[in-house]
Amino acid sequence: MTTPDTPETFDSHMTSASLGHDATSRGGDVGGLSGTGSEALWEAHADWWQSEFTDGADPEYEEQILPLARQLLDGFSHILDLGCGEGQISRLLASHADAPTVIGLDPTRAQVDAAGERGGGAAFAVAGAESLPHPDQSFDAVLACLVFEHIDPLEPAIGEVARVLRPGGRFALFLNHPLLQTPGSGWIDDHMVDPPEEYWRIGPYLVESASIEEVQKDVFIPFVHRPLSRYVNALSANGLHLVEMHEPAPPEGFRAKSPFFEAAAHIPRLLVLVCERSGDCECSGDCECSGDCERSGDCERSGDRADRFGP
Ligand SMILES: C[S@@+](CC[C@H](N)C(=O)[O-])C[C@H]1O[C@@H](n2cnc3c(N)ncnc32)[C@H](O)[C@@H]1O
Repeated sequence: MTTPDTPETFDSHMTSASLGHDATSRGGDVGGLSGTGSEALWEAHADWWQSEFTDGADPEYEEQILPLARQLLDGFSHILDLGCGEGQISRLLASHADAPTVIGLDPTRAQVDAAGERGGGAAFAVAGAESLPHPDQSFDAVLACLVFEHIDPLEPAIGEVARVLRPGGRFALFLNHPLLQTPGSGWIDDHMVDPPEEYWRIGPYLVESASIEEVQKDVFIPFVHRPLSRYVNALSANGLHLVEMHEPAPPEGFRAKSPFFEAAAHIPRLLVLVCERSGDCECSGDCECSGDCERSGDCERSGDRADRFGP
């Protein structure tokens, strides 16, 4: 990972993969990732991900992502870690005393092999988000950490998450912040104005783009930028309703890497959307819920989860 030493070279856009690099695009907007060989790129650069972002190497994972994942998945008993990489989150979740069943899936063979070698109590298999090898309603929680920015198209994968989740189940979606880390965003030290100003520039947020980015010398990773509304609307269309949102400040260990990271301490790099899967309405029809009890305060069946969804 390159550490920028001046604000001019500090293009803050982190691909989800790198969380803090100075990325450049190869080929610009390619209008989608299909046909770009994105699977082969993940396979070829799995070791980059493993050495730079796992096993204690990355402060954002150590200080922020792993603790937040643990907190958000606490109390669930059958968890799918979608796009698990080399399994660091699966291992963490499966390592606690009240250990849930954790399954990690990733389409990249080199990641799944490393996950298996690193062990830790979770089960791992090769599969992509577009077609999950599990029956409907098999999990009570699904986690996807820094994965959906690499998936194109979005909707089929979100549909698969909704399919394998039980009604009332949780989907924790960790994203490279789609607004504040839009490609082209970054810290600007502007000497064209008097007095000089420093501020955070936002790149072309509404422009959807798919690109292959050089995240480190000779390391190329596929990346998709979408506005936040694309995610929220796709979730909602599949019965995954937003119940919590987290935008934590960059953690201390990350900010300590550069004075410019410290200066941008008030700009979140991570966005976490926590959704609940809606269920089939069991009401008598004399309320105003329109078939979805979760969205109504009037429905007589809108009590606790067991009441709504049955045992
Ligand atoms: C940035 S890594 C994150 C790994 C892991 N979630 C973590 O937080 O350590 C992104 C992962 O997404 C996986 N990935 C890429 N395309 C995918 C797809 N279509 N479905 C599921 N995972 C995918 C890659 O193989 C890679 O392991």
